[in-house]
Amino acid sequence: MDRVLVTGVRGKTGVPLAALLAARGGVEVRGGSSDPRSVDLPGVVPTAFSWDDPDGWRAAADDVDAVFVVRPDRLDAPDLVAGLLGVLPPHVHVVLLSERRAEETGGHDWAVRVERAVTSREGSWTVLRPGWFMQVLTDPRFFRDLVLDDGALPFPSRGARLAWVDVRDIAAVAAEALLAPDVHDGVTYEITGPEPLSLPETAALLAAATGREVEHRDVTDAEALEGTGGFERELTALTYDRVRAGVFADPTDDVERVTGRPPRSLRTFLADAGPDLTGGVA
Ligand SMILES: NC(=O)c1ccc[n+]([C@@H]2O[C@H](COP(=O)([O-])OP(=O)(O)OC[C@H]3O[C@@H](n4cnc5c(N)ncnc54)[C@H](OP(=O)(O)O)[C@@H]3O)[C@@H](O)[C@H]2O)c1
Repeated sequence: MDRVLVTGVRGKTGVPLAALLAARGGVEVRGGSSDPRSVDLPGVVPTAFSWDDPDGWRAAADDVDAVFVVRPDRLDAPDLVAGLLGVLPPHVHVVLLSERRAEETGGHDWAVRVERAVTSREGSWTVLRPGWFMQVLTDPRFFRDLVLDDGALPFPSRGARLAWVDVRDIAAVAAEALLAPDVHDGVTYEITGPEPLSLPETAALLAAATGREVEHRDVTDAEALEGTGGFERELTALTYDRVRAGVFADPTDDVERVTGRPPRSLRTFLADAGPDLTGGVA
C-alpha cells in the first residue's frame, strides 16, 4: 500500500490528482485541506493540512511514501515548504507544483527558493513547472463568471500566446512521479498544453463551446489587477509581464514523455467542461 499526502486537494490540480491516485487501487490518498470537512472526494481520506498550522504537518504526513506539495503563493513560502520538508523522512518522495521559469518570479527570488528547498533536500524529489491552467477559464474564482455573465475575457496580453495546460495532464504527470519515484527522482518537468493560443483565439474557442459571444478585452494592467493588493498584486502584475515576454508560449513534450499520450487541447477541455463550463475537472 502506497500512502500519498496531496496538499491543496480542493484546488484545481488536487482534485484530479486525488481522483487518479484513488482510482489506481492500493493507494491510500490523504487529501490535505485547511477545511477537511469540505473534502468530499471518493476514496480520499480528508486530512487537516494548513500552511498556517505547522503543528499539524507531522500528523498529516505520518507514515506516507510521497507528498504532493502545492506551493503556497506567499512571500514566506520558501520557509514554509522547507519547514514541511523538515518533518519528512528522506525516504518520502516529494513532488512540488511550481511554475514555468520559476527563476524569473521577481526580486524576492521566492519561487526559485521554494524549488531549491526541494531540490537540495536529502531525499528524492520531482519538480513540476506548468504553464497557465485551462481551468482558470472555468474557475469561478477566475474567469468563468466573466465569460458566462459578461461575454468577456479580460486579459492584458498584447498579442501574447499561451500554451494553456489542462490540470488533468499535470495531475497525470504528478501521479506517475508520486508512484514511481525511482524513475522520476531529480527531474524537473515543464508541463504545457499542445499549442500556443492567443487570447482572441482562446475567446473564440470559449464562444464556440458555450454558444455565447465571448470577446477578449485587452485591458490595462491596472484594470486586470483591480481588487488585488500586496504580494498577490505584485505577483500577478509580474505574471502578466511574463505572459507578454512569451514565458508561457512554447509547448513541450513532457506530458507525452511521462504519460505516453499527448496533452489535451483547449478544444477538448472545453468540450468536457460543457456549455456551462462546469465539467473538465477530474
Ligand atoms: N493557475 C495557473 O494557471 C497556474 C499556473 C502555474 C502554476 N500555478 C501554481 O499552482 C498553485 C495553485 O494550484 P491549484 O490551482 O491547484 O490550487 P487552487 O485551485 O488555487 O487552490 C489552492 C487552495 O485554495 C483553497 N481554496 C479556497 N477556496 C477554494 C475553493 N472555492 N475551491 C477550491 N479551493 C479553494 C484550497 O485550500 P484549502 O482546502 O486549504 O482551503 C485549495 O487547495 C500555485 O502555486 C500557483 O502559482 C498556477
